[in-house]
Amino acid sequence: MKKILVIGSGGREHAICEQFKKSPKLEKIFCLPGNAGISEIAEIVDEIKIDEHQKIIDFCQKNKIDFVFIGPEQPLVAGLIDDLEKAGIRAFGPNKNAAQLEGSKIFMKKIAVDNNVPTAIYETFTDEKSAIEFAEKLAKEFKFPCVIKTDGLAAGKGVIIPQNFSEAEEAIKEIFAGKFGAAGNKIIIEEFLDGFEASYFVLCDGKNFIPLGFAHDHKRVGDGDTGPNTGGMGTYAPSPFIDKKLEEEIIEKIIRPTLHGIEFRGILFAGLMISRNTLEPLVKLLEYNVRFGDPETQVILPRIKTDFIDLIEAAIDGRLSEIKVEFDEEKKLVCVVMCANGYPENYEKGTEIKNLDLITEAKILHAGTIKKDGKILANGGRVLNIVAEATSFTTARDKAYKAIAKIDWKEGFCRKDIAGRLL
Ligand SMILES: Nc1ncnc2c1ncn2[C@@H]1O[C@H](COP(=O)(O)OP(=O)(O)O)[C@@H](O)[C@H]1O
Ligand SMILES: [Mg+2]
Repeated sequence: MKKILVIGSGGREHAICEQFKKSPKLEKIFCLPGNAGISEIAEIVDEIKIDEHQKIIDFCQKNKIDFVFIGPEQPLVAGLIDDLEKAGIRAFGPNKNAAQLEGSKIFMKKIAVDNNVPTAIYETFTDEKSAIEFAEKLAKEFKFPCVIKTDGLAAGKGVIIPQNFSEAEEAIKEIFAGKFGAAGNKIIIEEFLDGFEASYFVLCDGKNFIPLGFAHDHKRVGDGDTGPNTGGMGTYAPSPFIDKKLEEEIIEKIIRPTLHGIEFRGILFAGLMISRNTLEPLVKLLEYNVRFGDPETQVILPRIKTDFIDLIEAAIDGRLSEIKVEFDEEKKLVCVVMCANGYPENYEKGTEIKNLDLITEAKILHAGTIKKDGKILANGGRVLNIVAEATSFTTARDKAYKAIAKIDWKEGFCRKDIAGRLL
């Protein structure tokens, strides 16, 4: 019987805890710091902060934790895996070196180029003047829009797509003036790729890997993909647009050569751009993340039938070649994210959410919530994930929106068109 410590507090971690809960091998889940929903199925650890590595180690030893599962990227980039392993604690996720695939876009690009992985052409800059000169050159060659990216983690805000030279100049000046802190000490400017995006998840053990499938997300806050970017407003899986042949191509041209170039254990999450302007679909790597996506995980995990504890322990121990993963191939999932009014800008915390207990059509996963005096209160920007499943996307989507109609929370909103392009 296994005791697991899950690190993180989003809908992603709630989905991960739910998946562990399905295993007959589970004794107990601890979650640091968790949320109101997670507290129903796990013991919340709130006396330790995520960056207090030694305290986490002490906690694991005291509570005889079998393994630690790290949800978000920051602790991975900060080397929590390395510290846990040094202390003899088994942990799931990439080490500090491999986590740079997400922690540094320049590192990721170098691995891609060195291993012939198709990705947008790019240049690296460490000062404002040469970056602006390069943008000027692009303008003369009619190469706008282009894409400017900060090298380091910027919580999904470090990518700017200027339409002309003056927008590029302004963005470059802001970045080098410190808008994103040290994350913007270096930048890349890369070619704009046109097409549709997909997220691909691969479970890796350092040698072998098992694909876990594709999901599509909705990043903009408003219906019809309008307004500013967010952490993600909704997702659906599996991908109705990617067939076996294209998946094979993605594995052979992108995943396998990357894993040949770097030893990676954990979830490799490839952000892909698929062009439809060519006769054959042309796939390029936009970026890597080194963990599950939020809210992609919420639609990826429920399709996995294999015992999740077996799967994760096999990845930790380098035994994935012994495992065969089974999927529920029929299952279609839609996840709609509910946010506090005003998100992704200013929003209120502490408003009460009612009627969640009336919902039968969908699973409610919690993100930014907190429990106070028996009430569920909003405690973040993205607050709830409504996840529905069915054998068709149309039904899954209907169920999700029917569930949302029952929720009594005037201070919240969601997009009305998640998975809308499928209908
Ligand atoms: N080369 C590119 N061409 C077109 N769009 C891009 C390009 N690179 C990034 N984007 C857009 O910007 C988004 C964020 O970029 P990404 O590289 O995923 O960085 P991050 O997720 O760290 O913010 C992508 O999901 C995509 O919509
Ligand atoms: Mg991204």
